[in-house]
Amino acid sequence: MKPIVAPSLLAADFSNFTNAVDEINKSGAEWIHFDVMDGQFVPNLTYGPKLLADLRDKSRLTFDVHLMTLKPEHIAPFFIDVGADFITFHAEATTQIYHLLTDIRNRGKKAGISIAPATSINAIEGVLPFIDLALVMTVEPGFGGQRLIPECLDKARKLVKMREEYGLSFLVSTDGGIKESNSAQFRDAGVDVLVTGSAFFQSADKQAFVKKIKGLI
Ligand code: DX5
Ligand code: ZN
Repeated sequence: MKPIVAPSLLAADFSNFTNAVDEINKSGAEWIHFDVMDGQFVPNLTYGPKLLADLRDKSRLTFDVHLMTLKPEHIAPFFIDVGADFITFHAEATTQIYHLLTDIRNRGKKAGISIAPATSINAIEGVLPFIDLALVMTVEPGFGGQRLIPECLDKARKLVKMREEYGLSFLVSTDGGIKESNSAQFRDAGVDVLVTGSAFFQSADKQAFVKKIKGLI
């Protein structure tokens, strides 16, 4: 299976999100990744649910929300109400992991859990039966344009194996520092979703970029 590509709006021109979404719509990517940061869980601060509300009718692509916020149980409902498709939050940000995963699913959306580079898979092993997506950070959460931490890929490989062993069907997503020159190792690891911000928006030919990181050309 070729990986799904999810360009991150964090790397877009914040003065023209409509144009950025239009570029993603035309690129062949299947998802749009929204990096939501609260300045507490990570040092950076981005945007809230109103951005999704205003962009929802501009794209039929999957809206993949990545909450890098403390107390994600408080803010997740607002993103569900404005049309998010996937809601992923950090295992490090709440004690209510199981509760929030089931709440997201009960409200008809896909539930994801994310782990930062320092966090072991053990932190989420207990909830693998209750997720639709496991997001392995391949950079420290908070900023785009960072260098890939290759060791993090081992966690993605292990999650692919555990999924087979346990007979589960969640997607394995990776996020941070992904670009054309390093994308083969993600495909070889069996990763299902490639989140890419700066490399996507810096590419002159976005359709060719998407095809290349999918391994199609
Ligand atoms: C980092 C975000 C990533 C980031 C990816 O905290 O979660 O989604 O925007 O951007 P690049 O591809 O530039 O590393
Ligand atoms: Zn992200």
